[in-house]
Amino acid sequence: MNKQTEVGEIISVSGNIITVQLSDAIKSNMPVINGIVYRIGQIGSFLKIPLGYCNLYGIVTQIGAAAIPEKLKMEEDFSKLSNRQFLNIALIGEQSGRKFERGVSQSPTTGDKVHLVTIDDLEIIYGGYNEANSITVGNISISESLNAKLDLDKLVSRHCAILGSTGSGKSNAVGVLLKAIADKNFKSSRILVIDPHGEYNSVLKDKSIIYKIRADKKNGERELYIPFWALPFEELVSLFPNNLIDTQRDYIRAEIEKAKKESALVNKIEIEQELITADTPLPFSIKKLWFELDDFERQTFKKDKITKCLMKQGDPNILMSNEYEPCGIGSSEPYQNNSRKGILGFLDNVKLKLKDSTYNFLFDVDDYSPDLYGKTNKDISNLLYEWLGGKKPITILDLSGIPADIMTSISGTLLKIIYDALFWGQNLPNGGKEQPLFIVLEEAHNYLKAGEKSISSKTVQTIAKEGRKYGVGLVLVTQRPSELDETVLSQCGTIIALRMNNAKDRSFIRSAIQDELQTMVDLLPSLRTGEGVISGEGVKIPSRVQFYKLVDAPKGVDPKVSEKWNKENNITLDQYKQLLSFWRNKKLKEEKI
Ligand SMILES: Nc1ncnc2c1ncn2[C@@H]1O[C@H](COP(=O)(O)OP(=O)(O)OP(=O)(O)O)[C@@H](O)[C@H]1O
Ligand SMILES: [Mg+2]
Repeated sequence: MNKQTEVGEIISVSGNIITVQLSDAIKSNMPVINGIVYRIGQIGSFLKIPLGYCNLYGIVTQIGAAAIPEKLKMEEDFSKLSNRQFLNIALIGEQSGRKFERGVSQSPTTGDKVHLVTIDDLEIIYGGYNEANSITVGNISISESLNAKLDLDKLVSRHCAILGSTGSGKSNAVGVLLKAIADKNFKSSRILVIDPHGEYNSVLKDKSIIYKIRADKKNGERELYIPFWALPFEELVSLFPNNLIDTQRDYIRAEIEKAKKESALVNKIEIEQELITADTPLPFSIKKLWFELDDFERQTFKKDKITKCLMKQGDPNILMSNEYEPCGIGSSEPYQNNSRKGILGFLDNVKLKLKDSTYNFLFDVDDYSPDLYGKTNKDISNLLYEWLGGKKPITILDLSGIPADIMTSISGTLLKIIYDALFWGQNLPNGGKEQPLFIVLEEAHNYLKAGEKSISSKTVQTIAKEGRKYGVGLVLVTQRPSELDETVLSQCGTIIALRMNNAKDRSFIRSAIQDELQTMVDLLPSLRTGEGVISGEGVKIPSRVQFYKLVDAPKGVDPKVSEKWNKENNITLDQYKQLLSFWRNKKLKEEKI
C-alpha cells in the first residue's frame, strides 16, 4: 500500500462507526499525490482501510472535536487533544479485486491504517453498474470525471423521492432523469408525468406527448379529458359544493347506480349487473340524471295526487328544468311532491358546474360524452391506450387547467384509474408486470397531504406499498417533505435530497435515511443548485452528485414581475368589461359559437 496515501490509524471501533486519528506526519490537509490535490476530511468523502485481501471503505461523518472519543475527552486535557485530529467514518462497503459491494463482511481493528481514496479507487466504487440498466444523471461532486449513475431497475421498482427547497433543482433533476431514460431508446418504456403546473411542456419534446386542458393542437398537444363518469361517487359529488345529508346522498347514489346499470346495457358493456355500483367507472348521462332529479323536486299535482301540473316542458340537453304550476296556498291544489328530497340547491350547483367552461374537461369530453341514454363512442380503454400505450416513451398529463379546489379529487381519480387498470391487468401483456410504468408526481405535496384521507393520498399510499408487485413505480417530487405522508416517504427506496434550508424538512429526511449517514443531512443547506445527496437502493453507495443541467429544463410558469411591469399600460375600460364578461360567463378565452 502506498505510504503517501496513508492518513492515520484506527483508534476505536464501535459497531459500524470507526474513529480515526490522523497521523502527525500529515502536514497538510490537502496532500498532492500524482499531481492531484486531495482534501482530507470532507464530510461525505471516502477513506479506505486495506485489510490485505480486500479493502474496506468508509464515509466520513464527523471531523474534529465532535469525533474525539468520549473516553479520551475525559482522560486527557483538551489542550493536548487539540493538536491531534480525529474523524469518524461509517463503513459502507468493501472491495475485492475490482468489484465493490455494499456492506462489509468483516470489521477492522485498532491500529489498522487508513488511506486516502484515489481517483482509481473512486472509479471502482462508483463504477460497476450494468450498462443496460443504469442511467447517468450527472457527475460525482468531488470529481467531475466520475459519472453519477443510478440503477434504473431499483429506481423504478422501489420508488424514489426527490426533495429540496424551492429552486434547488428538483424539476431539472426530474428532466435529466427522464431524458436519461428516454435516451436509452427502450422499445416500450412507459413513463407518466403528472405535472400540476404545466412546467414540462417544453421538456423532451420529441420524446413525449402532452395531454392538456385547452391543448395547443397545432403544437402537437392533445386535449386532456377526464370523463366525469369515471370518478367514484364521493369524488363526483365533491365537485359540486354541497352540504348533503346522508339520506340525500344515498338517494343520489342509488340514482347514479341505476343510471350506470342501464347504460351498461345500452353500451353493451360486459359486466354483471350486480357488480355495478355508483363507483364503477361506467358512462351515464349526468344531464338526464340532473333533469330527472330536478323534475322530482319541482313536480306539483292536482287533487288526485297523480295528474301533474306541468306548464312548460324543459330540456335536459340544455339543462332547462320542467316548469310546474306553483303549489296552492294552504290545502288548495296544486300540491307539492311530498316525497321530494330537498336537493334543489345542490342541483343548481350541478347545473352551474355543467355550464362552467373550466369544467369542460370533465363534462364536455368529446367522444367520451354520453348521450341521454348513456351511450358513448369511446370508453376508458381509449383513454388508457392514449395515456399508456403511446409510441413515445413519456406521457405528460398537464393538470394546470384544473381548478385548485378539485385538484385532489381529479389527480387522485386519474391515478386510481391507471393503477386499478394495471392491477387488474397484471396477467396481461399490457398490465404493469409485463410493461412496468414509472409515474412522476411533481409537486406531490399539492395532493398528498399527511393525515388526509383523500382519494389521491389513498391511491398513492397503495401504489407506494404494493406498486412494486404490479410493476408501478413512483417518483415523488416535493419541496415540503414534512407535509408528505410519512408512510409513503418511508416506502421510497431511493432518496435524492437537494438543497434544503428548512430544519423541519431536514429532520424529516433524517428519519428516512440510514443512521450512519445522518450527518450528511447537515450538508443539505449548503449544497449548490442542482447538487444532491443520493442514498438508498438506486445507488451503490450514498453519493453527493451534481446533476447535469437540461437545456430545455422545466420552466416555472410564474410571470416575471419586473419584465411584465416594464410593459406600457394601455389597458382600457373595454378590456375590463371583457374581463368581467369572461368571469361572469366562466370562460377563459373567446370561444367561437
Ligand atoms: N444542475 C443544475 N445546474 C445548474 N443550474 C440548475 C441545475 N438544476 C437547476 N438549475 C437552475 O435552478 C433553477 C431552479 O431549478 P428547478 O426549477 O429545477 O427547481 P425546483 O427545485 O424544481 O423549484 P420549484 O420547487 O420552485 O419547482 C432553474 O433556473 C434551473 O435552471
Ligand atoms: Mg419544480
